[in-house]
Amino acid sequence: MLLKKGGGMLRINDTELICLKNITHAYATGASNQAVLHDVSFSISRGQSCAIVGPSGSGKSTLLNLIGLLDEPTSGCVLLAGKDMSLTNEESRAIARNRIIGFVFQSFNLLPRLNALDNVALPLLYRGVSQQQARQAAMKQLVRVGLASHHHHRPADMSGGQRQRVAIARALVGEPAILLADEPTGNLDSQTAQEIIELLLTLNREYGTTLVVVTHDTSIANRMVRCIKVCDGRV
Ligand SMILES: Nc1ncnc2c1ncn2[C@@H]1O[C@H](COP(=O)(O)OP(=O)(O)O)[C@@H](O)[C@H]1O
Ligand SMILES: [Mg+2]
Repeated sequence: MLLKKGGGMLRINDTELICLKNITHAYATGASNQAVLHDVSFSISRGQSCAIVGPSGSGKSTLLNLIGLLDEPTSGCVLLAGKDMSLTNEESRAIARNRIIGFVFQSFNLLPRLNALDNVALPLLYRGVSQQQARQAAMKQLVRVGLASHHHHRPADMSGGQRQRVAIARALVGEPAILLADEPTGNLDSQTAQEIIELLLTLNREYGTTLVVVTHDTSIANRMVRCIKVCDGRV
């Protein structure tokens, strides 16, 4: 792997965009403080689509949260574009979260008071982008997910599939290199679920966004180029 020091993290020309090395994780708040991930190592290439599958409680969300820098492993390290994220301070981790990673959740997590456009624009406002520019960028993403005509709708006025499209647009608004989705179709009927997966795969193909999807649906997992199986915290 090519390691380049200093800026331009997104432009480093290595193929292993995500690399996990000997990850062990225990929740401090867990009843027994036992590890939920044991010595997990794998890497995902730039532009790949990858499913993470396994039974409930096997550690899939924990794994995704570690890749997404929402949590830090008890031991081992997560490298993004060749950079060991455990060696950086919380500020650069926050910047990486905002600029490199987009997250999509099962429950959409949209703000109910904001319309679709402003929900999508929000991550850019956190970055200090002006409201006009943020709304312009948000509109571009709503076009990508096929919801431009619904930009003024609030979440309550949209179907589950439409809400998830808005959430995907929000995850993409910062043009992240990595899109992480935790059971993104868990609250959707099977027809809508297929449409959402098609959308994620189209974005992966057309824009090269590396896609990691946690799912227990084998028909979804089979659509990805790669499948990582988690069982009892082991890969
Ligand atoms: N915040 C937390 N605090 C304590 N234990 C947790 C926490 N989150 C998850 N766990 C435990 O870690 C294990 C793995 O959970 P999780 O990663 O959510 O699995 P999955 O997504 O595969 O269902 C489970 O035993 C779960 O109870
Ligand atoms: Mg989970």
